[in-house]
Amino acid sequence: MSPPLAFIRAQGSVITDADGHDFLDYQAAFGPIILGHNFPEVNQRVQEMMARIDLVGVGQTDVEIDLARKVCEHIPSAEKVLFCNSGSEATYGAVRLARAVTGRKKIIKFQGCYHGWHDYLAMNVITPAEKLGMRDPLSAGSLEEALRATLICEFNNLEDVSRTLQQNRGEIAAIIIEPIPHNIGCVLPQPGFLEGLREMTRENGIILIFDEVVTGFRHSLGGYQKLCGVTPDLTTLGKAMANGYPIAAICGKSELMDQFNTRQGGCVFFAGTYNGHPFACAAALATIEVMEKQRVHEHVFRLGEKMRKGLQDILQLLKIKATVAGFGSVFLIYFLEGPVNNYADLLQNDQELFVSHRRKLMDRGIFQLPLNLKRNHISFSHTDEDIERTLRATEEVLATTPSVRE
Ligand SMILES: Cc1ncc(COP(=O)(O)O)c(C=O)c1O
Repeated sequence: MSPPLAFIRAQGSVITDADGHDFLDYQAAFGPIILGHNFPEVNQRVQEMMARIDLVGVGQTDVEIDLARKVCEHIPSAEKVLFCNSGSEATYGAVRLARAVTGRKKIIKFQGCYHGWHDYLAMNVITPAEKLGMRDPLSAGSLEEALRATLICEFNNLEDVSRTLQQNRGEIAAIIIEPIPHNIGCVLPQPGFLEGLREMTRENGIILIFDEVVTGFRHSLGGYQKLCGVTPDLTTLGKAMANGYPIAAICGKSELMDQFNTRQGGCVFFAGTYNGHPFACAAALATIEVMEKQRVHEHVFRLGEKMRKGLQDILQLLKIKATVAGFGSVFLIYFLEGPVNNYADLLQNDQELFVSHRRKLMDRGIFQLPLNLKRNHISFSHTDEDIERTLRATEEVLATTPSVRE
């Protein structure tokens, strides 16, 4: 069965396709849905905003200022913040700023991390085995010069980063990283890895950018940086910040952010007709306030733990050699024997099984995107019963999948 691609309804933890099939949703629109679909408090704030103001496009609105204050209150690296509409715009702006302030051209990213669609960074995410160690652009038509200026290192490998820095001494403007590479499921940073990057970048005058477009607000109000205690120079945010409304942000140290032309004398161009749109700002404010007032993270972390433990028990019971991965609200099963420390380890994942397992779950009304290495997300609207139902369906599917049994 191929995925039902036409949806007509989304409510709480359930999405409904055009044929009227309900699915328990773990795709969460690639991550934004942290509270649940169509969350009443968020919708209400957007509706109130619609009744009051729409796009003005000059100066600021009160909601944009309130939201900026919230981001700076919560995200440790945020002294100042600018809003745009997508994570790709945010990472583009962060890289451009890093190049401007350092006067250097090259960027380091990590194999397996995704930072958006632009030529600066759209490469080396789910790279085929034969291309590992080579440049692997995501798109035809990318500018060769832009690709050449982006160097690829291995996640969790400080020696590789150190070697790359030595080989390109004085040429690296920024290191950009998903602190947990969620675009290949969930690979956790080993103790000392992010700390090591912080030290190396500080010593070498390199801008450290945490791309928290997935992890920000999903793993804590302060992003993963709050949990791991490593503060980057710049941070990009998006997705779970507004529970599905289109908004993203770049934030960081004042001395860097002041170089944007949104400040007098700033020389780094930053613009966008819809930047700071009041509807999206209202959605983000409402989302953050719900997370502040209700036990959102406690709930999604508890259900995440319950899911991972339940999956682990099923694998053990059925004697299946596979690896349960995840953090907080994120979970998935890799069909490989761990441990998983970097993308190369994930080449062992049985892709066919990974996809067919998820297709079978869809037949049972559970939606986990049937695409290799994609993560699953739990929202505040998921219940214990949802998790138990998912575990029962998973056990049924795995029990009848002979190729995974020992
Ligand atoms: C970590 C990360 N950064 C940036 C982006 C790009 O965000 P957008 O799709 O909003 O442009 C994504 C999108 O999946 C992402 O996962």
